[in-house]
Amino acid sequence: MADCLVLASGSGSNFEAIALRLANSPHRLLSLICDRPEAFAIVRAERLLVPVLRISYGRRREEAESRLERALVSLAPDLIVLAGFMRILPAAIIDRFPGRIVNIHPSLLPAYPGLSAIERSYADAGAPMGISVHIVDHGVDTGPLLAQFEADRTDGPSLPEMEERIHTLEHRHYPHIVEEQLDIIDREHGMRGLT
Ligand code: GAR
Repeated sequence: MADCLVLASGSGSNFEAIALRLANSPHRLLSLICDRPEAFAIVRAERLLVPVLRISYGRRREEAESRLERALVSLAPDLIVLAGFMRILPAAIIDRFPGRIVNIHPSLLPAYPGLSAIERSYADAGAPMGISVHIVDHGVDTGPLLAQFEADRTDGPSLPEMEERIHTLEHRHYPHIVEEQLDIIDREHGMRGLT
C-alpha cells in the first residue's frame, strides 16, 4: 500500500477519475487539497467521501505556500498528484518530495507548456495535440516525462470536440499512471522492509 494526495483547483474531473480508480486498489487517497473555495473538485470530493483540505491563497501567497508545505509534510504522502492544480509549487516543496510529484498537462510537452495549452495548440492548425504526464521539477511543465498520448485531430474537430478528446484521454490514462507509480513505490517499500 502507498499513500497519495491530489491537488486540484478546478472542475476536478481528473481527481474524480483517480479517486474511483484508487478505491479499487490497495492504495490510499489521503485527501484532496484545493486552493479555490468555489472549485467543483470540492463537491466531487465530498460526494466521494474524500477528506478535503482547503488552502486559500488570498493575497498572501507565501503564507499559503508555507501552510501547504506544512500540510504536505504532516500528511506525508508517498506521491503528490497534481490534477489541474493551477499554481506553481515553491522549490521548498519540490525539494521535500524529489521525484514524488506528478502532473498532467493537456499538450504534448515540451510544446505548449503553461496556461491555455489546449486553446493554443488548437490555434496552431498543424500542431499535434495530446496529453503529457510528467514528474514535477523546478520548471513549469518541464520535468521528466512518464507518458504521452496523442489525440486525433485529423477529422477537423471543433475546439470543444478537441477539448473533450483531451479530457477523455486524461481520464483514461492518468489514473492508471498514478496507480502504477504507487505500485512502484509500494514495491520499493517492500524491498526496504517498510510495509
Ligand atoms: C486538465 O485538462 C489538466 O490537464 C489541466 O487542467 C485540467 C484540469 O481539469 N492542467 C493544466 O493545464 C496544468 N498546466 P479537471 O479539473 O477537470 O481535472
